[in-house]
Amino acid sequence: MLKLNYKNADAMVVGEDNGLHLQSEFAAYQEKIKDIIVDLNKRKDKPGQWLQWMNLGYNEETLWYVKEYAAMVKDRFENILVLGIGGSALGGIAVTEALLKPYWNLLSDEQREGLPKIFFLDNIDPDTMTGLLDILDLSKTLVNVITKSGSTAETMSQFMIVKDRLEKELGDNYRYNVVATTDKRTGVLRQIAEQEGYKTFVVPDDVGGRFSVFSAVGLLPFALVGIDIDAIVNGIKDMDLALKNTDINENIAAQNALIHYLMDTKKGKKLSVMMPYSSRLKYVSDWYAQLWAESLGKNKDKSGNDVHIGPTPIKALGATDQHSQIQLYNEGPNDKLITFIRVEEFDNTLDIPNIFEYTGIRYLGGKTMNQLINAEADSTRVAISDYGRPNVSIYLPKVDAYNIGQLLYMFEVQTAIAGELYNINTFDQPGVEQAKNYTYALMGRDGYEESAHMLQERMASV
Ligand code: PA5
Repeated sequence: MLKLNYKNADAMVVGEDNGLHLQSEFAAYQEKIKDIIVDLNKRKDKPGQWLQWMNLGYNEETLWYVKEYAAMVKDRFENILVLGIGGSALGGIAVTEALLKPYWNLLSDEQREGLPKIFFLDNIDPDTMTGLLDILDLSKTLVNVITKSGSTAETMSQFMIVKDRLEKELGDNYRYNVVATTDKRTGVLRQIAEQEGYKTFVVPDDVGGRFSVFSAVGLLPFALVGIDIDAIVNGIKDMDLALKNTDINENIAAQNALIHYLMDTKKGKKLSVMMPYSSRLKYVSDWYAQLWAESLGKNKDKSGNDVHIGPTPIKALGATDQHSQIQLYNEGPNDKLITFIRVEEFDNTLDIPNIFEYTGIRYLGGKTMNQLINAEADSTRVAISDYGRPNVSIYLPKVDAYNIGQLLYMFEVQTAIAGELYNINTFDQPGVEQAKNYTYALMGRDGYEESAHMLQERMASV
């Protein structure tokens, strides 16, 4: 199991102003945490609670259908192209970056063992999209269009371009190059899929985008490129069991949620930095940033009071960002709680040869890159604590499917518990609607004429 080390968030290490008295806080919050965990597990099967993500590890049916489809299309495609944005893309990117061999798309067919390359289009930059379409042979590409709502402008505009090109190239048979992941019943993509006869997978009810990585949204692309989805699911299930423990001393998601909540509300640590010491985990920080930001950044609490809360997530990468951000973290405002992720065992051991006698670098020879990256993780953690900057460390035994299942699921539960501590609705995102509506108006969507008129006037005046 992965482990959490929180001692550098304690006042004993980082001082009274910046640290918490964790044992007494854990004791003080024990009953509340217990109530939250019991309540989440009680509510998770109820419709409208948006907690179905807690059941995704047990969805044998989806697992079976995903594996069946992946086996059926195996050998038919050279590329997988995923179209989606936000929660429909970030989990897929994070997990494939973590679990596929590095530089996957540059490997030969033999090195990829005949499995396809995978590309995610999660933006609408005309240059990058054109660039990608220029290099992809669409006839040999399986397009997985993912949108829960079925009408997200970014995803559907991408799909319209790709569908048009596919159809021009392949005629009616183009439909076999498309697989749609969307709502079971509603949305434009569902209608198109039924009309055109696409293979479809479902984004289950009551699973929001940012909590959907372990539904078909993530599992399908993972299975298509040969990731062991059974191992991911085993990791989720084992973590779920561990996180059902209502004793805060035994529950790392509850501990980390409480530490983040108290650091924000009592110690003014309004910024939450995620800093894995592993390039393969770089995009886990992107996924986490969305999970944390969209879930916890809210203006009202559950009673309707104005609160405007939510710690701001920041992405960093060790050791790279030691050479860009650590100066600020050590000496700038003491307003951050840093989460380090340290990998215990890398897949490879890379020896540093003993080839130079220069005093400044001689010590590196005969060591391994593994020793170096973990020495940097440890030394940064200690140095940051010396500066009185609170931090926690997650120890990941290995970057593999089982541990990634554990890690991401742990963060999801941590976020849900933090939302309860803040007493806000973790699962809505009203704050993203305004800009979406303005875009609809600017792009001439029916029903948005009045808004378009108002926007034209405002844009002329600013
Ligand atoms: O987490 C969320 O709910 C959002 O980030 C959505 O995933 C994102 O807006 C894309 O929505 P959809 O899947 O409906 O296209």
